[in-house]
Amino acid sequence: MNDLIIQNIQELILPKSTDRPLKGRELDELTIVENGTVVVKDGKIVYSGPHTEEYEAHETIDATGKVVSPALIDAHTHLVHGGSREHEMALKRQGVSYLEILKQGGGILSTVKATREASAEELFKKAEYNLLTMIHHGVLGVESKSGYGLDRETELKQLRVSHRLADKYQLDMKHTFLGPHAVPAGRGGEEFMQEMIDFLPEVKDYADFADVFCETGVFTIEESRRYMQAANDLGMRVKIHADEIDPLGGLELAIEQHAISADHLVAASEEGKRQLHDSDTVAVLLPGTTFYLNKDSYADARGMIDNNGAIAIATDFNPGSCVTNNLQMVMAIAALKLKLSPNEIWNAVTVNAAKAIGLDAGTINTGDRANIVIWHAPNHQYIPYHYGVNHAEKVIKDGQVIVD
Ligand code: NIG
Ligand code: FE
Repeated sequence: MNDLIIQNIQELILPKSTDRPLKGRELDELTIVENGTVVVKDGKIVYSGPHTEEYEAHETIDATGKVVSPALIDAHTHLVHGGSREHEMALKRQGVSYLEILKQGGGILSTVKATREASAEELFKKAEYNLLTMIHHGVLGVESKSGYGLDRETELKQLRVSHRLADKYQLDMKHTFLGPHAVPAGRGGEEFMQEMIDFLPEVKDYADFADVFCETGVFTIEESRRYMQAANDLGMRVKIHADEIDPLGGLELAIEQHAISADHLVAASEEGKRQLHDSDTVAVLLPGTTFYLNKDSYADARGMIDNNGAIAIATDFNPGSCVTNNLQMVMAIAALKLKLSPNEIWNAVTVNAAKAIGLDAGTINTGDRANIVIWHAPNHQYIPYHYGVNHAEKVIKDGQVIVD
C-alpha cells in the first residue's frame, strides 16, 4: 500500500531529471500536466503524471484548483549571521553606495562584528527562525554560506551552526566557506587572502564549497584566482561572487576555474557571457539584490540564455544587500526585471538551482525524494504574478506533510 496520493491537481509542474544543468532554450522546457496525480511511498515518488485511479494509499489529498511542484531550492543564502542593518536604509536614502558603506567600516564589516559577538546558540536560534520561514515558503534545499567571521573561530562557528540546522531538520543543505568575503580593517587584501588559503585544508571538513567576493575594493581577480586554485587543488568545488557591481572578469575566472556556479553577474562582460556557451558553470542570478541595492540595471539573463548558458535564481538572503528569504518574491522580480518566462523561472528555482549547489533535487519524477509543495494558486504563472505573499499551502518533505 502507498502512503499518499495527491489527486485532481490542477497543474502539476514536472521539471525534467537531468545530470547537467538545463542550458539555453532547454530552460523553457517544462512539463505541466493538467489534472495530475502524485503517488508517494516510503518518502519517494512512485508516480507523477496524468490523472490515474490505479493506485491506493493510506492518505489522499485533494488538490482541486491547486498547483503542485517540487520543493524549491535556494541556491545562495547567507543564512547564518548576527545582527541586522536597518540603519543602512537611511544611508541608502542619502545616496551612499553599498561599497562606500563597506569602505567606512559598515556593511559586511558591521555584520562581522555582530556575528563575532553572538554565541553559537544565538546564531542558531536566529538562523533557525529564518530557515523555518523559508520552509514555510516552500524551500527544502538550501545553500548556506559563512563569511561573517573573517577569522578561524567565527567562520567555523557559522559553519557548525549551518550543519546543526541541516541535522535537526534533515534538510538538503550545502555549506559554503566564504572566508574571503571582505578585508578586515587594518589588513591587506593579499595577506588576508593568504590566511584564508592556509585555512582551506581545515575548513574542507566543514564546507562543500569555497566562495570568494571578487569586487572592486574587496578581492581582486588575481587574489580570487589563487584562492580558487588552492581550493580546487584540495578537491573542493568553487563558487564566486562575481561582477556584481564592477565588470572585473569574475565570470571568465569562474569558467576558467570550473566553478560550480558564478553568482550575481550584473556587470558580467559580453565575453564572459559568451563563454557560458561551452561551460556547465551555473550563472546564479540574484535579482532581489539588484532590487534592494536600488540599481536600474539587472543581470542580462536573456543574453546568457541566448548564449546557451545555464541559469538559476536564488535569494542571496543576507542582512545588507537582500533582506528577504522569500524566494517567491524573487521569482516575481525575475519575471519583471530579468524577463524570464514562467517555465524558465520554475526550472531556475528547482532543477537548475539544485545543480548550482550539487544537489540531487528539484524534480519529482519516479524514484525522487518526495519533497513537494502544494500551492494555493490556480496555475503556475500565478506564483510570480501575485507577488510579495506566500502561496505555499502545504509543504511535504520525504512524503510527510510538515507545513499545513
Ligand atoms: O552576496 N556581495 C557580497 N556579499 C553579499 C552581501 C553581504 C552583505 O551585505 O552583508 C551578497 O550580496
Ligand atoms: Fe551573496
